[in-house]
Amino acid sequence: MDLQDISPKKTVVIAIDGPTASGKGTVAQRVADRLGFHYLDSGALYRLTALSVLRAGIAEDDVGAIASIAGSLPCSFKGGSIFLGCEDVSEDIRTEEAGNMASKVAAHQPVRDALVALQLSFCQPPGLVADGRDMGTVIFPNADAKIFLTASVEVRAQRRYKQLLEKGVSANIDILRKDLEERDRRDSERKSSPLKPAADAVILDSSDLGIEESVQAILDICMMKNIR
Ligand code: C5P
Repeated sequence: MDLQDISPKKTVVIAIDGPTASGKGTVAQRVADRLGFHYLDSGALYRLTALSVLRAGIAEDDVGAIASIAGSLPCSFKGGSIFLGCEDVSEDIRTEEAGNMASKVAAHQPVRDALVALQLSFCQPPGLVADGRDMGTVIFPNADAKIFLTASVEVRAQRRYKQLLEKGVSANIDILRKDLEERDRRDSERKSSPLKPAADAVILDSSDLGIEESVQAILDICMMKNIR
């Protein structure tokens, strides 16, 4: 008998990294649904930490207290909703305030370290689609496929603007663009796990692609790597 026939089947990992508002979340979730894989929204873990920090009134430079919150997040993911304890915080973590604070707390290495085990726990058979900034570079360096999904700042600001208007939240496109650029700069220039494509990532610019076209492009990349 071939040894491969009796060795346990490895969990397939697809890492999708990229900047804020590149459409990663929606695209990664759909890729996971199509393949019947689990989905990790690692940004949500940083947002949950940020929300808890904001609510507790902890200073953004109190690294010890923030890492301790990150290391014991009472979070759960159920049917597309995200819970902190018993409270559904799916909407609360998506505010610009929570996003900006997430990018600040994420710059601290002890906070990142505190979230590693939780992220790894999502890696369950038959496979995982992991979305974030350092999925392919740090958390799953041996991922079977790595995609860096990006889009121009202008397109990302427009997408975020449309999303907010659809939710009935008023927004100013110039402020949104400035916030995005600021967050890109903070995520790319930080010392700990900066936002950058893994050396072996496929770069996918979705500026001129719709969501379904991006999903299909990623499924095509997976198919070429025999992931289906
Ligand atoms: O992806 P999302 O915009 O929800 O992430 C919020 C923030 O969390 C990002 O701006 C980034 O600073 C941080 N993040 C990170 N590493 C990840 C995912 C998110 O540093 N893997």
